[in-house]
Amino acid sequence: MKKTNRPPQSHQNSPREKRRHTDLLNSSAPARGAVEINEIIERVLSRRTFVRGSAAFGMAALVSGGLPVLSAHSAARNLLSFKAVTANRRDSVTVPPGYSWDVVLSWGDELWSASQPFDEHTGGTGSSQEMAVGDNNDGMYLFSHEGRSILALNNEYANRPTLFGNRDDDRPQTPDDVRKGMAAHGVTICEISQTKDKWSIVKDSAFNRRITPTTPMHITGPAAGHDLMKTLADPTGTQTLGTWANCANGHTPWGTYLTCEENFDGYFTQEDDDEDISDELERYGFGSKDWGYNWASSDERFDLHKNPNEPNRVGYVVEIDPFDPKSTPKKRTALGRFKHENAELVINKDGRVVVYMGDDERGEFLYRFISDRKYVEGGDNRDLLDSGQLYAAKFHDDLRGEWLALTPETTDMETQAEICIHTRQAASEVGATTMDRPESIAAHPATSEVYCSLTNNKHRGKKTNRGDDEMPVGGPNPRRKNKYGQIVRWRSDEGDHTKTGFDWQLFVLAGNPTVHDDARKGSPNINADNMFNSPDGLKFDQRGILWIQTDGKTSNKGHYAGMGNNQMLAADPVSGEIRRFLVGPKKCEITGLTWSFDRRTMFVGIQHPGERGKSHFPNGGTRVPRSSIIAIKRDDGGLIG
Ligand code: FEO
Ligand code: CA
Ligand code: CA
Repeated sequence: MKKTNRPPQSHQNSPREKRRHTDLLNSSAPARGAVEINEIIERVLSRRTFVRGSAAFGMAALVSGGLPVLSAHSAARNLLSFKAVTANRRDSVTVPPGYSWDVVLSWGDELWSASQPFDEHTGGTGSSQEMAVGDNNDGMYLFSHEGRSILALNNEYANRPTLFGNRDDDRPQTPDDVRKGMAAHGVTICEISQTKDKWSIVKDSAFNRRITPTTPMHITGPAAGHDLMKTLADPTGTQTLGTWANCANGHTPWGTYLTCEENFDGYFTQEDDDEDISDELERYGFGSKDWGYNWASSDERFDLHKNPNEPNRVGYVVEIDPFDPKSTPKKRTALGRFKHENAELVINKDGRVVVYMGDDERGEFLYRFISDRKYVEGGDNRDLLDSGQLYAAKFHDDLRGEWLALTPETTDMETQAEICIHTRQAASEVGATTMDRPESIAAHPATSEVYCSLTNNKHRGKKTNRGDDEMPVGGPNPRRKNKYGQIVRWRSDEGDHTKTGFDWQLFVLAGNPTVHDDARKGSPNINADNMFNSPDGLKFDQRGILWIQTDGKTSNKGHYAGMGNNQMLAADPVSGEIRRFLVGPKKCEITGLTWSFDRRTMFVGIQHPGERGKSHFPNGGTRVPRSSIIAIKRDDGGLIG
């Protein structure tokens, strides 16, 4: 989700900004404060040391799990075998020659026979939305279960101009509008199947389910029952309602889905503007007004004055059993409370569960959770995510880093519960490294390398984060007023994800070499044919290809000239080569990536086509734009991941 999903604001450049762009583009002199690219390459991009280290860990142990995978050897020989797609501004999806795409589902599609057909003039009603696919699909995972394909997908937020397109100001006006807006959020679980080569929803499947901001949930882990979690409606501090702002995701080897609560603050309102917002809430961005959803008008939980602890009950990773529609989702507080992007879970070689997580806000941190207990295949792994240790990352300039444990002793907080609720403040206290908006994290399937998108940070080198921590230029955040973003990777000592120390390096610095000569031109693996900005979603396929999805500026002008619409690229982690695989429709963000069990279909999310701009994706003509999931296949029926 863009950090610009705030009350309407202009994204047009001011005349002054336009002048500045022109000056910049006409000048060959590096901009003030610009860093020479060679200096950064020397410091944090040199591939030699890191790749030598990778070879030591080897590409030999690809885990197949009985699935058709290429051998590590052949994968390494020919990782990127498609023809690159050219940047463009079409209102459609572009994939390479030899590949085809098709829509699987869209916002508003019916999940049951009793659902009402989508009405694009009204955007539906509260009751129709509760029985249909939610809006703005983001992270997703396709589970296979006894030969059936169960898709769990996040519905991150609502596109008000389409959801409330029947209202003058694109805002909810009636209680039913608010109900519809709430139901557009959360998680959709649905069975999908393939008939005559086309994937679509299996209506009335026993697995179909909507999880919304009103679905009952358990609060588990260290923060459960703490005084800060108690409300009038729940004096136990252990039962809550719903999940929202579900950005990206994770999944577990015991068959559950992890949905990550990100921009959860924008839904709360404080009627009395003069009443102070506490430091604790300010750290998470809470203000006195919501972002136009008006939930507090129907549900007192969203009134900060009446329910000051309600905000403490959101901002977690929520675990859902996709195979049991009656199961109660669990908010796993042990994984901390922050603006969670995704939850990348690996089983360490000693059996403990390690979860890597980013906090997507300027100058926030990277986190790691290590479970106390070990994963046992076929055993009772249900509550593994309830007890363990949380850490925040510190990156040193010498390409070494360490994980700093967040404990009562290190954070000056009284209990682990408090650390799990005020996690940002705890990580500030230990001196973790302020990052350029950590988005998605992806672990390589065979080596112990882990990659994280640092999407951009216009405040780098200029301002502090919300907790007044400095954001100096340096380490994995080497550019002032970082417009384009970068991807950092690290490898734990001895290939053991539970070790304290790690080596790190930048994998790519995004940039625009057709406009800039300084560090803003990007690293050597960026060129005029593959440039992009704002890397966001990251995922490895089983062959070891790193897929990069973007959520960036699509003006195609100035600093972003030649980059076109948001896109998905494939990267070879060994050679560093990056190639553009897909371009999305106008004003969309590419979100979510998963595969069919036979690895012959890749599913990709197209989120908010036409956000603040015209799009008629996917139906064309004058139809309203709808967030959708597409299926991509090779025309020869071959493997695609
Ligand atoms: Fe929902 Fe950080 O993207
Ligand atoms: Ca994202
Ligand atoms: Ca983003």
